Amino acid sequence: MEIRVAIFGMGRFGRALACALAQAGHEPERIGGRGKPHAQGRKLAPEPQDMLRGLPPETLVVLAVQDDRIPALAAQFAALPGAGAHSFVHTSGASGPGALKALADIGAQTGVFHVLQSLPPEKGERRIAGSYAALAGPPPLVERLRQVGHAIGVHPVELKPDQWGPYHAAAVLASNALLGLLDIANELLRDAGVPSAPHLLLPLVQGTLLNANELDLTAALTGPVVRGDTGTIKKHLELLQGQSRDAYIAGLRAVLGLARRSGRAPADKLDEIARLIDQAK
Ligand SMILES: NC(=O)c1ccc[n+]([C@@H]2O[C@H](COP(=O)([O-])OP(=O)(O)OC[C@H]3O[C@@H](n4cnc5c(N)ncnc54)[C@H](OP(=O)(O)O)[C@@H]3O)[C@@H](O)[C@H]2O)c1
Repeated sequence: MEIRVAIFGMGRFGRALACALAQAGHEPERIGGRGKPHAQGRKLAPEPQDMLRGLPPETLVVLAVQDDRIPALAAQFAALPGAGAHSFVHTSGASGPGALKALADIGAQTGVFHVLQSLPPEKGERRIAGSYAALAGPPPLVERLRQVGHAIGVHPVELKPDQWGPYHAAAVLASNALLGLLDIANELLRDAGVPSAPHLLLPLVQGTLLNANELDLTAALTGPVVRGDTGTIKKHLELLQGQSRDAYIAGLRAVLGLARRSGRAPADKLDEIARLIDQAK
Protein backbone atom coordinates (compact mmCIF):
# COMPACT_ATOMS: atom_id res chain seq x y z
CA MET A 1 0.00 0.00 0.00
CA GLU A 2 1.41 3.37 -0.99
CA ILE A 3 1.06 6.19 1.54
CA ARG A 4 1.98 9.45 -0.18
CA VAL A 5 2.32 12.17 2.44
CA ALA A 6 3.95 15.61 2.53
CA ILE A 7 4.34 17.43 5.84
CA PHE A 8 4.50 21.23 6.20
CA GLY A 9 5.73 22.50 9.60
CA MET A 10 8.57 20.50 11.14
CA GLY A 11 8.09 21.20 14.84
CA ARG A 12 7.26 18.61 17.48
CA PHE A 13 4.33 17.08 15.61
CA GLY A 14 5.62 17.28 12.05
CA ARG A 15 8.98 15.75 12.93
CA ALA A 16 7.47 12.97 15.04
CA LEU A 17 4.96 12.07 12.32
CA ALA A 18 7.66 12.11 9.63
CA CYS A 19 9.89 9.81 11.72
CA ALA A 20 7.04 7.42 12.55
CA LEU A 21 6.08 7.20 8.87
CA ALA A 22 9.71 6.72 7.79
CA GLN A 23 10.19 3.97 10.38
CA ALA A 24 7.08 2.25 8.99
CA GLY A 25 8.63 2.32 5.49
CA HIS A 26 6.68 5.36 4.25
CA GLU A 27 9.25 8.14 4.00
CA PRO A 28 7.33 11.41 3.40
CA GLU A 29 7.33 12.53 -0.22
CA ARG A 30 8.30 16.05 0.86
CA ILE A 31 8.77 18.03 4.07
CA GLY A 32 8.48 21.78 4.36
CA GLY A 33 7.95 24.97 6.31
CA ARG A 34 10.19 25.98 9.21
CA GLY A 35 11.64 23.66 11.82
CA LYS A 36 14.13 20.80 11.63
CA PRO A 37 14.15 17.91 9.14
CA HIS A 38 13.43 14.52 10.72
CA ALA A 39 16.35 12.82 8.94
CA GLN A 40 19.84 13.69 7.79
CA GLY A 41 20.02 14.70 4.16
CA ARG A 42 16.35 15.76 3.94
CA LYS A 43 15.83 19.39 2.95
CA LEU A 44 12.82 21.54 3.83
CA ALA A 45 10.72 23.17 1.12
CA PRO A 46 10.53 26.54 2.90
CA GLU A 47 7.36 28.08 1.40
CA PRO A 48 3.99 26.64 0.33
CA GLN A 49 4.86 27.17 -3.35
CA ASP A 50 8.10 25.15 -2.92
CA MET A 51 6.07 22.42 -1.23
CA LEU A 52 3.57 22.00 -4.08
CA ARG A 53 5.96 22.46 -7.00
CA GLY A 54 6.25 19.08 -8.78
CA LEU A 55 4.43 17.24 -5.98
CA PRO A 56 2.72 14.10 -7.38
CA PRO A 57 -1.07 14.63 -7.66
CA GLU A 58 -3.29 13.37 -4.85
CA THR A 59 -0.60 13.73 -2.20
CA LEU A 60 -1.91 14.02 1.35
CA VAL A 61 -0.49 17.35 2.59
CA VAL A 62 -0.30 17.57 6.40
CA LEU A 63 -0.24 21.11 7.81
CA ALA A 64 1.49 20.70 11.20
CA VAL A 65 1.65 24.34 12.30
CA GLN A 66 0.40 26.19 15.39
CA ASP A 67 -3.43 26.06 15.69
CA ASP A 68 -3.97 29.78 15.16
CA ARG A 69 -1.92 29.86 11.95
CA ILE A 70 -3.84 27.11 10.13
CA PRO A 71 -6.52 29.25 8.37
CA ALA A 72 -3.97 31.75 6.99
CA LEU A 73 -1.65 28.97 5.83
CA ALA A 74 -4.60 27.17 4.20
CA ALA A 75 -5.40 30.39 2.33
CA GLN A 76 -1.77 30.62 1.14
CA PHE A 77 -1.90 27.05 -0.21
CA ALA A 78 -5.36 27.60 -1.73
CA ALA A 79 -4.01 30.52 -3.79
CA LEU A 80 -1.43 28.28 -5.49
CA PRO A 81 -2.05 26.63 -8.88
CA GLY A 82 -2.72 22.89 -8.57
CA ALA A 83 -3.55 22.94 -4.84
CA GLY A 84 -7.00 21.43 -5.52
CA ALA A 85 -5.33 18.27 -6.86
CA HIS A 86 -4.20 17.34 -3.32
CA SER A 87 -5.86 16.52 -0.02
CA PHE A 88 -5.05 18.59 3.05
CA VAL A 89 -5.34 17.88 6.76
CA HIS A 90 -4.34 19.89 9.80
CA THR A 91 -3.13 18.25 12.98
CA SER A 92 -4.87 20.32 15.64
CA GLY A 93 -7.42 18.82 18.02
CA ALA A 94 -8.93 22.23 18.68
CA SER A 95 -11.10 22.44 15.56
CA GLY A 96 -12.57 20.36 12.77
CA PRO A 97 -11.82 20.65 9.04
CA GLY A 98 -13.49 24.13 8.99
CA ALA A 99 -10.06 25.65 9.69
CA LEU A 100 -9.13 24.59 6.12
CA LYS A 101 -12.17 26.29 4.54
CA ALA A 102 -10.03 28.20 2.00
CA LEU A 103 -8.81 24.86 0.61
CA ALA A 104 -12.27 23.26 0.67
CA ASP A 105 -13.52 26.29 -1.30
CA ILE A 106 -11.16 25.49 -4.19
CA GLY A 107 -12.30 21.85 -4.25
CA ALA A 108 -9.51 20.17 -2.27
CA GLN A 109 -10.49 17.38 0.13
CA THR A 110 -9.90 18.63 3.67
CA GLY A 111 -9.81 16.93 7.06
CA VAL A 112 -8.08 16.50 10.40
CA PHE A 113 -5.47 14.04 11.66
CA HIS A 114 -4.89 14.68 15.37
CA VAL A 115 -2.74 12.25 17.33
CA LEU A 116 -3.94 12.44 20.92
CA GLN A 117 -0.54 12.49 22.56
CA SER A 118 1.81 14.95 24.22
CA LEU A 119 4.92 14.95 22.05
CA PRO A 120 8.33 15.86 23.51
CA PRO A 121 10.70 18.16 21.55
CA GLU A 122 12.81 15.23 20.31
CA LYS A 123 12.00 11.62 19.42
CA GLY A 124 8.26 12.22 19.72
CA GLU A 125 7.72 9.24 17.41
CA ARG A 126 8.31 6.96 20.45
CA ARG A 127 5.01 8.17 21.90
CA ILE A 128 2.87 7.74 18.80
CA ALA A 129 2.20 3.98 18.49
CA GLY A 130 -0.62 2.95 20.84
CA SER A 131 -2.11 6.47 21.00
CA TYR A 132 -5.55 7.34 19.68
CA ALA A 133 -5.94 9.66 16.67
CA ALA A 134 -9.04 11.74 15.96
CA LEU A 135 -9.97 11.95 12.28
CA ALA A 136 -12.39 13.95 10.18
CA GLY A 137 -13.05 14.49 6.50
CA PRO A 138 -15.05 13.11 3.59
CA PRO A 139 -15.14 9.26 3.49
CA PRO A 140 -12.34 8.72 0.91
CA LEU A 141 -10.01 11.00 2.88
CA VAL A 142 -10.92 9.35 6.20
CA GLU A 143 -10.09 6.01 4.60
CA ARG A 144 -6.63 7.35 3.65
CA LEU A 145 -6.16 8.73 7.16
CA ARG A 146 -7.04 5.32 8.58
CA GLN A 147 -4.27 3.82 6.41
CA VAL A 148 -1.80 6.41 7.72
CA GLY A 149 -2.98 5.66 11.26
CA HIS A 150 -2.59 1.93 10.72
CA ALA A 151 0.98 2.43 9.40
CA ILE A 152 2.08 4.33 12.52
CA GLY A 153 0.14 2.17 15.00
CA VAL A 154 -2.53 4.58 16.29
CA HIS A 155 -6.17 3.76 17.07
CA PRO A 156 -8.32 5.94 14.79
CA VAL A 157 -11.53 7.57 16.06
CA GLU A 158 -13.71 9.59 13.67
CA LEU A 159 -15.23 12.73 15.23
CA LYS A 160 -18.37 14.66 14.26
CA PRO A 161 -18.11 18.46 13.88
CA ASP A 162 -19.64 19.26 17.31
CA GLN A 163 -17.36 16.78 19.11
CA TRP A 164 -14.05 18.64 18.58
CA GLY A 165 -14.63 21.20 21.35
CA PRO A 166 -15.42 18.69 24.14
CA TYR A 167 -12.72 16.31 22.83
CA HIS A 168 -9.99 18.93 22.97
CA ALA A 169 -11.11 20.39 26.32
CA ALA A 170 -11.02 16.84 27.76
CA ALA A 171 -7.49 16.40 26.40
CA VAL A 172 -6.37 19.67 28.01
CA LEU A 173 -7.84 18.57 31.37
CA ALA A 174 -6.31 15.09 31.23
CA SER A 175 -2.85 16.12 30.05
CA ASN A 176 -1.99 19.81 30.53
CA ALA A 177 -4.01 20.28 33.75
CA LEU A 178 -2.35 17.18 35.18
CA LEU A 179 1.06 18.86 34.77
CA GLY A 180 -0.28 22.06 36.34
CA LEU A 181 -1.51 20.09 39.37
CA LEU A 182 1.83 18.30 39.61
CA ASP A 183 3.61 21.65 39.59
CA ILE A 184 1.47 22.90 42.49
CA ALA A 185 2.05 19.66 44.41
CA ASN A 186 5.82 19.99 43.84
CA GLU A 187 5.76 23.53 45.18
CA LEU A 188 4.15 22.27 48.39
CA LEU A 189 6.96 19.74 48.77
CA ARG A 190 9.67 22.28 47.99
CA ASP A 191 8.23 24.85 50.43
CA ALA A 192 8.19 22.20 53.16
CA GLY A 193 11.79 21.16 52.34
CA VAL A 194 10.78 17.57 51.58
CA PRO A 195 13.76 15.77 49.98
CA SER A 196 13.67 14.27 46.47
CA ALA A 197 11.12 16.74 45.10
CA PRO A 198 10.06 16.82 42.28
CA HIS A 199 10.89 13.16 41.49
CA LEU A 200 9.17 11.88 44.65
CA LEU A 201 5.70 12.19 43.12
CA LEU A 202 6.38 10.69 39.68
CA PRO A 203 6.21 6.96 40.60
CA LEU A 204 2.94 7.74 42.43
CA VAL A 205 1.51 9.41 39.32
CA GLN A 206 2.75 6.58 37.09
CA GLY A 207 1.22 3.96 39.41
CA THR A 208 -2.09 5.82 39.45
CA LEU A 209 -2.16 5.93 35.64
CA LEU A 210 -1.28 2.23 35.38
CA ASN A 211 -4.14 1.43 37.78
CA ALA A 212 -6.50 3.64 35.75
CA ASN A 213 -5.46 1.70 32.64
CA GLU A 214 -5.91 -1.74 34.23
CA LEU A 215 -9.01 -1.05 36.35
CA ASP A 216 -12.18 0.98 36.22
CA LEU A 217 -11.50 4.56 37.46
CA THR A 218 -13.68 3.94 40.53
CA ALA A 219 -11.57 0.89 41.45
CA ALA A 220 -8.33 2.79 40.80
CA LEU A 221 -9.31 5.58 43.25
CA THR A 222 -7.52 5.59 46.61
CA GLY A 223 -7.12 8.34 49.23
CA PRO A 224 -9.09 10.04 52.00
CA VAL A 225 -12.28 10.83 50.03
CA VAL A 226 -13.06 7.25 48.98
CA ARG A 227 -12.09 6.02 52.47
CA GLY A 228 -14.38 8.60 54.06
CA ASP A 229 -11.46 9.96 56.15
CA THR A 230 -12.97 13.37 56.90
CA GLY A 231 -10.42 14.06 59.68
CA THR A 232 -7.55 13.87 57.19
CA ILE A 233 -9.33 16.23 54.79
CA LYS A 234 -9.98 18.74 57.61
CA LYS A 235 -6.26 18.72 58.48
CA HIS A 236 -5.31 19.39 54.86
CA LEU A 237 -7.79 22.25 54.58
CA GLU A 238 -6.41 23.83 57.77
CA LEU A 239 -2.89 23.60 56.37
CA LEU A 240 -3.31 24.73 52.77
CA GLN A 241 -3.43 28.31 51.52
CA GLY A 242 -3.58 30.15 48.22
CA GLN A 243 -3.17 28.25 44.95
CA SER A 244 -2.59 24.84 46.53
CA ARG A 245 -5.78 25.24 48.60
CA ASP A 246 -7.80 26.19 45.47
CA ALA A 247 -6.37 23.21 43.58
CA TYR A 248 -7.00 20.85 46.50
CA ILE A 249 -10.64 21.95 46.78
CA ALA A 250 -11.16 21.58 43.00
CA GLY A 251 -9.53 18.13 43.22
CA LEU A 252 -11.81 17.07 46.11
CA ARG A 253 -14.84 18.20 44.14
CA ALA A 254 -13.70 16.19 41.09
CA VAL A 255 -13.06 13.08 43.17
CA LEU A 256 -16.34 13.22 45.09
CA GLY A 257 -18.49 12.03 42.16
CA LEU A 258 -16.06 9.19 41.45
CA ALA A 259 -16.09 8.18 45.13
CA ARG A 260 -19.91 8.15 45.18
CA ARG A 261 -20.04 5.98 42.05
CA SER A 262 -17.49 3.57 43.56
CA GLY A 263 -19.97 2.57 46.28
CA ARG A 264 -16.94 2.17 48.57
CA ALA A 265 -17.43 5.27 50.71
CA PRO A 266 -20.21 5.67 53.31
CA ALA A 267 -22.78 8.17 51.97
CA ASP A 268 -22.86 10.19 55.21
CA LYS A 269 -19.07 10.65 55.06
CA LEU A 270 -19.28 11.84 51.44
CA ASP A 271 -22.05 14.28 52.42
CA GLU A 272 -19.79 15.61 55.18
CA ILE A 273 -16.93 16.05 52.67
CA ALA A 274 -19.29 17.91 50.32
CA ARG A 275 -20.17 20.26 53.23
CA LEU A 276 -16.48 20.76 54.04
CA ILE A 277 -15.83 21.73 50.41
CA ASP A 278 -18.71 24.23 50.37
CA GLN A 279 -17.54 25.83 53.65
CA ALA A 280 -13.90 25.92 52.54
CA LYS A 281 -14.36 28.34 49.62
N1 LIG B 1 3.10 18.89 20.23
C1 LIG B 1 2.16 18.02 20.49
O1 LIG B 1 2.25 17.26 21.44
C2 LIG B 1 0.97 17.92 19.57
C3 LIG B 1 0.15 16.79 19.70
C4 LIG B 1 -0.97 16.68 18.87
C5 LIG B 1 -1.25 17.68 17.96
N2 LIG B 1 -0.44 18.77 17.86
C6 LIG B 1 -0.80 19.80 16.89
O2 LIG B 1 0.18 19.86 15.86
C7 LIG B 1 0.31 21.21 15.38
C8 LIG B 1 1.77 21.64 15.50
O3 LIG B 1 2.12 21.60 16.87
P1 LIG B 1 3.65 21.49 17.30
O4 LIG B 1 3.65 21.19 18.75
O5 LIG B 1 4.40 20.62 16.37
O6 LIG B 1 4.10 23.02 17.08
P2 LIG B 1 5.58 23.56 16.91
O7 LIG B 1 6.55 22.65 17.60
O8 LIG B 1 5.54 24.99 17.27
O9 LIG B 1 5.86 23.40 15.35
C9 LIG B 1 5.18 24.12 14.33
C10 LIG B 1 6.19 24.36 13.21
O10 LIG B 1 5.52 24.94 12.09
C11 LIG B 1 6.30 26.08 11.64
N3 LIG B 1 5.42 27.05 10.97
C12 LIG B 1 4.34 27.67 11.47
N4 LIG B 1 3.77 28.49 10.56
C13 LIG B 1 4.55 28.39 9.46
C14 LIG B 1 4.49 29.02 8.18
N5 LIG B 1 3.52 29.88 7.86
N6 LIG B 1 5.44 28.71 7.28
C15 LIG B 1 6.43 27.84 7.59
N7 LIG B 1 6.53 27.20 8.78
C16 LIG B 1 5.60 27.48 9.72
C17 LIG B 1 6.88 26.64 12.92
O11 LIG B 1 7.95 27.51 12.68
P3 LIG B 1 8.15 28.79 13.68
O12 LIG B 1 8.18 28.24 15.08
O13 LIG B 1 9.44 29.37 13.21
O14 LIG B 1 6.98 29.69 13.47
C18 LIG B 1 7.30 25.34 13.63
O15 LIG B 1 8.53 24.86 13.17
C19 LIG B 1 -0.63 22.08 16.25
O16 LIG B 1 -1.85 22.25 15.56
C20 LIG B 1 -0.86 21.22 17.48
O17 LIG B 1 -2.12 21.45 18.08
C21 LIG B 1 0.66 18.92 18.64
